[in-house]
Amino acid sequence: MEKLVIQGGRQLNGTVKTSGSKNSALPLMAATLLCNSGEIKLHRIPDLKDIQTFSKLLVYLGAEVSYQANTLNISTSNIRCVQAPYELVKQMRASIYVLGPLLARFGHASVSLPGGCAFGPRPIDLHLMAMEKLGASVTIEKGFIEAKVKGNRLRGVQIDFPVTSVGATGNALMAAVFAEGITTINNAAVEPEIVTLCCFLNAMGANIRKIGTPSLEIEGVDNLNASEFTNIFDRIEALTLLTAGAITGGSITVTGADPAQLAAVLGKFEQTGCRIITDTGSITLESPDMLLRTDVIANPYPLFPTDMQAQWIALMTQAEGVSHVIDKIYHERFNHIPELNRLGAHIEIRDNEATIHGPRKLTGTKVMSTDLRASACLVLAGLVAQGVTEVLRIYHLDRGYERIEKKLNSLGAAIERVSYQEFV
Ligand code: EPZ
Repeated sequence: MEKLVIQGGRQLNGTVKTSGSKNSALPLMAATLLCNSGEIKLHRIPDLKDIQTFSKLLVYLGAEVSYQANTLNISTSNIRCVQAPYELVKQMRASIYVLGPLLARFGHASVSLPGGCAFGPRPIDLHLMAMEKLGASVTIEKGFIEAKVKGNRLRGVQIDFPVTSVGATGNALMAAVFAEGITTINNAAVEPEIVTLCCFLNAMGANIRKIGTPSLEIEGVDNLNASEFTNIFDRIEALTLLTAGAITGGSITVTGADPAQLAAVLGKFEQTGCRIITDTGSITLESPDMLLRTDVIANPYPLFPTDMQAQWIALMTQAEGVSHVIDKIYHERFNHIPELNRLGAHIEIRDNEATIHGPRKLTGTKVMSTDLRASACLVLAGLVAQGVTEVLRIYHLDRGYERIEKKLNSLGAAIERVSYQEFV
């Protein structure tokens, strides 16, 4: 087991480069299952636990996968299995992304139900609804989703999602690539990760139109061809790094990320009194003397992302006044709050709303990670806490941040990664 030992109270300044996007890389990896020949090269793939897990899943299915210097080489011409096992799906919910492509290419997919998650229920009913609408029979047998095409091919159809879902949009897209005729997906997610998936599928020969809109149109094709493709940068990592500057009163420049994808959060930083300067591919945040309280509501893109909710709460512990954070996507995504309060924060939770009383002097102690963004939040709090903060179980952090302590230390932080034994 590993922990991060953080010496707090240091101001962070400087420039740091964002890694490739985790939440874009995972569906790109799933989409390679649609290509039955040749080798696919995916560039700007971050070196993360989730990428390793998804690679293991592709190899389990019969793919050849190699990873070198942030480039993945994948060949899925010899896929010999259509079952995603419980042990891998349990480690990473995004494994559900293989459902659509396996069903589209092989007419059958067997994917373990993902099970629970640290921040409440994460249903997959919309994924299954989309498969059924496209002409598959879907049953649950012994904890597995068994999806089988009725007839010899999925058929184009109109899919109306009652809730905007990134994952269900991605799965429906990939399932529809070979479907007979035209599929329309209404209330589709418009996250940059979905736009990137559409661009990659079209680069391989798919025919997807109205990309970036909530009404996607997919005209079925017969097959896809191997292609080389470069992933987008990780917008959540970029915003987390900028937050490290704001919470320590420093000035940070993040390169690589597209400012247009960060607009909702950059606007909120400005409301706190931070100065934001953007240029092509770079964003600079300059901190004010005192952060102003700023309320946020987490919603689907292009509004404030739920994946920044925990980090924002950490920041608001240092703002002047009482702030309110509501998460409309995950109503129970607040496991980080009891840990922040152990550092000396004063935060109350009521339903899906957190009330943060600031500014509060935080004092370092041991805190426990519970999920990916909660662990990032605790690292940010440790940067500003007086004394030493130990963030335990950072395997959660390693799922989605590529060597974050190295990036933060390059900006002036004092963070050490230490192995430790947990009491039995
Ligand atoms: C993706 O998860 C991201 N994960 C999450 O990031 C992110 O928090 C989430 O989108 C929202 O932006 C990846 O991309 C790998 P959803 P996903 O389906 O696709 C409800 C991180 O920290 N819903 O868009 O699982 C659901 O309960 C992770 O990097 C249904 O009701 O999220 C939620 O309220 C955490 N039925 C809302 O939709 C379904 O079948 C949005 O979820 C599916 C979802």
